[in-house]
Amino acid sequence: MVSSSSGAQVLVASNRGPVSYALGADGTLTSRRGGGGLVSGLSAIGSDAGAVWVCAALGDGDREAARRAAAGDGLLDSADTGGQQVRMLDIPPEVFADAYNGIANSVLWFVHHLLYQTPLEPAFDADFRAQWAAYEAYNAAFADALAEAAAPGAAVLVQDYHLTLVPGLLRERRPDLRIGHFSHTPWAPPDYFRLLPDDVAAEVLRGILGGDRAAFLTRRWAEAFAECCAVVLGAEVARDGDAGLRVTYEGRTTRLGVHGLGADADFLRDRSRQPDVDDRLADLREQIGTDEDGAPRRTIVRVDRTELSKNIVRGLHAYRRLLTDRPEWRGRVVHIAFAYPSRQDLAVYREYTEEVSRVAGEINDEFGTDGWLPVVLHVKDDFARSLAAYRLADVALVNPIRDGMNLVAKEVPVVSEAGCALVLSREAGACAELADDALVVNPYDIEATAGALHEALTMPQDERADRSKRLAMAATALPPARWFLDQLAALSA
Ligand code: G6P
Repeated sequence: MVSSSSGAQVLVASNRGPVSYALGADGTLTSRRGGGGLVSGLSAIGSDAGAVWVCAALGDGDREAARRAAAGDGLLDSADTGGQQVRMLDIPPEVFADAYNGIANSVLWFVHHLLYQTPLEPAFDADFRAQWAAYEAYNAAFADALAEAAAPGAAVLVQDYHLTLVPGLLRERRPDLRIGHFSHTPWAPPDYFRLLPDDVAAEVLRGILGGDRAAFLTRRWAEAFAECCAVVLGAEVARDGDAGLRVTYEGRTTRLGVHGLGADADFLRDRSRQPDVDDRLADLREQIGTDEDGAPRRTIVRVDRTELSKNIVRGLHAYRRLLTDRPEWRGRVVHIAFAYPSRQDLAVYREYTEEVSRVAGEINDEFGTDGWLPVVLHVKDDFARSLAAYRLADVALVNPIRDGMNLVAKEVPVVSEAGCALVLSREAGACAELADDALVVNPYDIEATAGALHEALTMPQDERADRSKRLAMAATALPPARWFLDQLAALSA
């Protein structure tokens, strides 16, 4: 185990770690590494920095890997983590399920993305209280592990809505540490945040305010957080011009920051030109086919987790509307929708996944012909195929109800071959940076979304290419490694 006298100078804490494990019937463990901003950020500071990443074991394979690590120095085998020091917490499965499925994904995620059907939900009852106790225990387990692994004065970067209580709990244990929290989600406006029971709402805010800094993907979410602190806690909010917001509560000040994570241009450009992506591209082109004049059909591409907030079903309705109102597009366009499995432990996600398939099927039944499939829906995760779709997209549809950032909106223009028109929800964080060159829509307005799809499809090629170049520039302004280093620097300032 890493002791606090030596300990790590930089620590990251997140629910999902950089690696996951599958347990074979014969007891063998197979590891699989993920990507994302934190992985790039930590590799930017190099393995010499001795940074430690603390994450939760999510499934049986992870648990087994965590147990094997605990028998040694507490860290996962570095061969599995690309040299990264990772401590995976084996939190009891019932506690983890209540914290992750019960609170994080069914309550806090719903609050920040405005997902409740409020006539019937939420209803905070005894079950909720039991789950909330689990969320507290799960946050405490992270705080304990971080407190144990951190060197004196170390910097700790705590991630997301799963771990809102960690900054406060960690400060109690280790007042010497510099603690930052980063929200990858939107933040709810005060009236909606106050759906939470009063004590819980206050505990979440106080937890984050336990840190020296609280950071967000856009100014809009930082402002919403500050307003919640003012309304719920009566905290004092100070604005230093454009530079920053500060929240003072019970004599302590927490600085708020904004770091708009960008796409990783170098990685994407290189990865999207690999042979496996070329193969997927050829397959997709064949599936899309040509119109009656022999011209390749146009494409509207979307790539998402099958996530309630991504608004996939309304996107399909908008596409149906386009085919209904503008028959000239029949046989000339294909909607490529990749909707990858996510959070399938939750019934509402399983039902939503079924609804996506059902509506796509309806559109294909209504409009499809022998040679034309209007919607090509894939529900199995395939990164190479996603990149292939990015390369050929004429139009990208990114229409979330609400989204912290949405990296797909930033990735497609970077990877696109001939330039792509972006139809973008005004409720995506990315809209703050991409609005000038996107076609911006209200995600609830199906007619307006259909109109924007038509406008995108008819945009002159030159304009599409020019806009796409500017979108790619804006999208890559803050690459993941710098996004991470900026936060680290700001925490020391
Ligand atoms: C969002 C959250 C992340 C989360 C990801 C995937 O982007 O901000 O914290 O990891 O969704 O969700 P999952 O529940 O599969 O980790």
